[in-house]
Amino acid sequence: MNNRLVDLYKKQFKANPEKYFMSPCRINLIGEHTDYNAGLVLPAAISKYIQAVVGKRKDNKIHLKSLNKLGDIEVSLDKISNTPENNWGNYPLGIFATLQKRGYKLPFGLNIIYSSNVPIASGLSSSASMLDLTAFIASKMYNIPLQNDEIALLAHQSETEFNGLQCGIMDEFAIALGKKGKSIFLDCSTNKFTYEDVSFKDLSLVVIVSNVKRALIASPYNQRVAECNEALNILKKRFNITSLSDLKVLDLEECKKLLCNNVLYRRVKHVVTENQRVRDFIDASKNENVELMCDLLNRSHESLRDDYEVTGEYLDFLHDISLKYGALAERMTGAGFGGSSIAVIKKEDFDDFKEKVIKDFYLKYRIKPLIFLADICDGLVVKDIVNKKK
Ligand code: GLA
Repeated sequence: MNNRLVDLYKKQFKANPEKYFMSPCRINLIGEHTDYNAGLVLPAAISKYIQAVVGKRKDNKIHLKSLNKLGDIEVSLDKISNTPENNWGNYPLGIFATLQKRGYKLPFGLNIIYSSNVPIASGLSSSASMLDLTAFIASKMYNIPLQNDEIALLAHQSETEFNGLQCGIMDEFAIALGKKGKSIFLDCSTNKFTYEDVSFKDLSLVVIVSNVKRALIASPYNQRVAECNEALNILKKRFNITSLSDLKVLDLEECKKLLCNNVLYRRVKHVVTENQRVRDFIDASKNENVELMCDLLNRSHESLRDDYEVTGEYLDFLHDISLKYGALAERMTGAGFGGSSIAVIKKEDFDDFKEKVIKDFYLKYRIKPLIFLADICDGLVVKDIVNKKK
């Protein structure tokens, strides 16, 4: 429970909040830029959280406040639209609009105060966390029975339709379905998943947030989505496929001939080989072959760097210095470019590794990365707030 948030709520709204919520962030172990190609991913929720305290209002307004953002936002439920004035509120507001679009009646307004300890623009998916959290808040406050995978789908619908981002389903699923100590092996063609015990044995899994501001870099995300669709349309004429993930590694020779455009071929090669790396990683993990698991993580980074071209110089530098300072594996995680990466290192090397990586990165870019041990945690949490009578 966050007493500071509860006190702030009482002070601002002269009322008691009813419920407290928490939503984690995510890393992705392997399976990058495959989700929007109906491929395989292996993410996990990690214990960096957005928290919220919430209470009902007597009118039909949604009042949003965040300790991490400037300005409160207040909008009537019947007047929600995506406008520049709503600013950061366009993310949470989209959930209410999407529920109404699905035909749900929302009979009263809500006050919500958010607080986050997720590094901003870190590539750990704070936006999906905010969306899942708000979808979860709405389901609990309006008694709409939604399973966790339905929360993820609602949040994803809101992000694509209300916020207009063409991202895949991985982040919303990883956060809504998070389970302590487990990774989520999700097939994005069916949204079927299993929980996997991925263990690096006596090695540690580490998260490195580059802290490079996204604004410094133009994200090629939507361009990659478009390139994959372009390649798919060409390949459909020869293969009986509905997505690039229906292709096998053995099909790549044929794809190369059909896609005279070398760039499109490299995009396809990444998606097809990355799906195979996820399968191989799961097998290696079941066989407790940590050496192979590490090798696959490194191969994944190289493919994202050389074929998919989404790593960028900051994450490539982190990859190189991490391996130099003893990491057995290191790869970007999430969308890429200036976001975060994960590394596998010997437990006893952690402090030394952390110090050296931060030092080298700072010397080159004057930016200090944040490095911490990955703590794989449960997904969405709700608690009743017991208000003591005076
Ligand atoms: C971002 C998107 C995800 C996924 C990753 C890349 O995090 O939100 O849907 O595409 O990039 O794997």
